[in-house]
Amino acid sequence: MKQTTLILLLLLVVQCTHEPIIQEDCPPGVISFQEEILPLIKTNCGTPGCHGGAFPEDGLRLDSYASIMRKVKPNNPEDSKLYRVLFETGEDQMPPSPMGVFSAAQKNLIYQWIAQGAEKTTCHVSNCDTIGNPSFASVQQVIDLHCISCHRTNNPAGNVKLDTYADVKTAVTNQGLIQSLQGQYGFKQMPPSGPISDCHMAILERWVGAGMPQ
Ligand code: HEC
Repeated sequence: MKQTTLILLLLLVVQCTHEPIIQEDCPPGVISFQEEILPLIKTNCGTPGCHGGAFPEDGLRLDSYASIMRKVKPNNPEDSKLYRVLFETGEDQMPPSPMGVFSAAQKNLIYQWIAQGAEKTTCHVSNCDTIGNPSFASVQQVIDLHCISCHRTNNPAGNVKLDTYADVKTAVTNQGLIQSLQGQYGFKQMPPSGPISDCHMAILERWVGAGMPQ
């Protein structure tokens, strides 16, 4: 009897600490804070040693909605430190060298999210480009969003380059790109902050399944 109560209690605790699993799909054009902005910022800025961990740089933490919002003026990207800092150069470059600066796609995503009111949207990214033939163009969009800042030719993390079609093909064939998306088979989880959305993963997997067309 005691054991049953304990199990029930445990079940309750487990259920309460989990985020809801089924999410509403994002309406067209709406950016998901949970699936797009938070992973991007956490991976590139909110890591231990930078703006995360026990002792964040400059006392500035960038690993949650509340902490990120301290550098954001909703509806006003041009006036938001979080966006402006992405254009700094030299010593003020963010993320600092040797990490790469954000791609145009990444900057634009942050811009759009702030312009949309910088809300804590949790909707599910659903604009999966799974109609028609898979193309490298949609793969490159996903990589520009999630990977390129750490995997540019001039300073590629883990010696994995993801700039060009040939680079990505090599990474899939020889460097475990697909396995790394789930941190499987001994490959490191990529991006380090956690898996990309199912939608973006599907775009990569579908392209690989089709023989990586150019
Ligand atoms: C914040 C920086 C960062 C981001 C963003 C990032 N990576 Fe990495 N990646 C690394 C680092 C650092 C390593 C080297 C890890 C090691 O060897 O310990 C690495 C290694 C890899 C490897 C080799 C894995 C292994 O275990 O050998 C692959 C493949 C890879 N990344 C692909 C990707 C892809 C695909 C994305 C986007 C979906 C991505 N990375 C996003 C930093 C990053």
